[in-house]
Amino acid sequence: KGLRVQDKGFLNTAVLRSKITYIDGDAGILRYRGYPIEQLALQSSHLETAYLLIYGSLPTSAQYKVFQGEVMHHSVVHADAEQFFRSFRYDAHPMAILTSALAYLGSYYSEANPSLQGQNLFTKGDAASLAIIDKQIFRLIGKATTLAAMAYRVRQGRDFVTPPTGLSYTGSFLYQMDHLGETDYKPNPVLEKALDVLFLIHADHELNASATTVLQTGSSLVDPYSAVAAGCASLYGPLHGGANEAVIRMLISIGRPGNVPAFIEAVKKREKVLSGFGHRVYKTSDPRSFIVRKMADEVFEVTGKDELLETAMALHEAAMKDEYFVKRKLAPNVDFWSGLIYRAMGFPLDFFPVLFAVPRVVGWLAHWRQMMLQDGGVKIWRPRQIYVGAPKRDYVTMEQRV
Ligand code: CMC
Repeated sequence: KGLRVQDKGFLNTAVLRSKITYIDGDAGILRYRGYPIEQLALQSSHLETAYLLIYGSLPTSAQYKVFQGEVMHHSVVHADAEQFFRSFRYDAHPMAILTSALAYLGSYYSEANPSLQGQNLFTKGDAASLAIIDKQIFRLIGKATTLAAMAYRVRQGRDFVTPPTGLSYTGSFLYQMDHLGETDYKPNPVLEKALDVLFLIHADHELNASATTVLQTGSSLVDPYSAVAAGCASLYGPLHGGANEAVIRMLISIGRPGNVPAFIEAVKKREKVLSGFGHRVYKTSDPRSFIVRKMADEVFEVTGKDELLETAMALHEAAMKDEYFVKRKLAPNVDFWSGLIYRAMGFPLDFFPVLFAVPRVVGWLAHWRQMMLQDGGVKIWRPRQIYVGAPKRDYVTMEQRV
């Protein structure tokens, strides 16, 4: 009653106050806790930035040591999980595996169980409940890389690898993906650094569809594993984290640069979508896309150029000067170039959204923690609708229906 305004797709609804990430879509600005994304990409690391996003300030070296130690310590996954991973078909999409695995993980940690939330464990804000919150955060960030690597290896028919010690977060991930029993395995430092920067710039993006899903799910006081699994499911879609995979499929379908004009015409006739272009918030440029584009060249120096690069560049150039895209303020987003890097690094195509999900676990948890600890406690997210269905009518038996 009294509801008059429908906001389809939440174009103009602010559902909370947040101190985590700032975006100015007209100016193309992205800041984590006030720090420009460009400075963080250049000087920070994914794990240091994770601390910043979650706790609000850059860590001292002592704080970082503890945080890194906790995250890496919690990267090991219970040995029983191997059976779970082996239950998937050989061609299962790794995002389906990862989404399920995140929810499955929650079954191990009884202190996070929703049945205990009647006691408001997450929302009390005292030292004991803060410790419970942080433990789930360490586990989820630590195990995200392990679950992702397990999803990869099970499809390759490879044995699982115990997370190594002494490597960086991304180094450990690459080790778990690639290690084939060599005694002297070391990830390539340029690729390790590139992946770390990619992780960092994917770590958060304020209230995108998946972060919103995590908060909506978490607002029922369910455990964070279930909430993060819900976020991962949302990220899987081609309009969100699945776009990096969709971009490469699109480039493969276009083929040669000479086919770009025909593709652009098909987009303008709405027969196709230009994946990796457009954004709900950015209306001039996505600052992350410049970082990724620059990094692509650094990675290609090691791996060699991707054969689709010329087509991507031709597509980019054609779209940026075409009236259809200019009028609608459509520019490349973070997904336009990232897939080319992942491909050059040898990741399978359907694994690309996983490379978005793993670092985004950080942002999801930063938002979840902020919500759990907000003043006044958590309010369950329950939007309203405007009912436009049938008025009251009386039931008719099946014989009376025509
Ligand atoms: N190709 C062709 N036309 C487009 C595209 C595109 N990629 N994106 C938007 N448009 C058109 C759209 O059809 C509409 O035209 P009109 O006003 O004539 O109907 C106009 O531009 C405005 O777009 P919108 O759909 O109202 O914008 P939105 O804010 O609802 O959607 C979006 C944003 C990202 C879902 C959309 O731009 C899109 O589908 N892009 C392709 C998928 C993609 O790259 N997603 C990754 C987003 S960035 C990373 C992430 O957050 O996951």
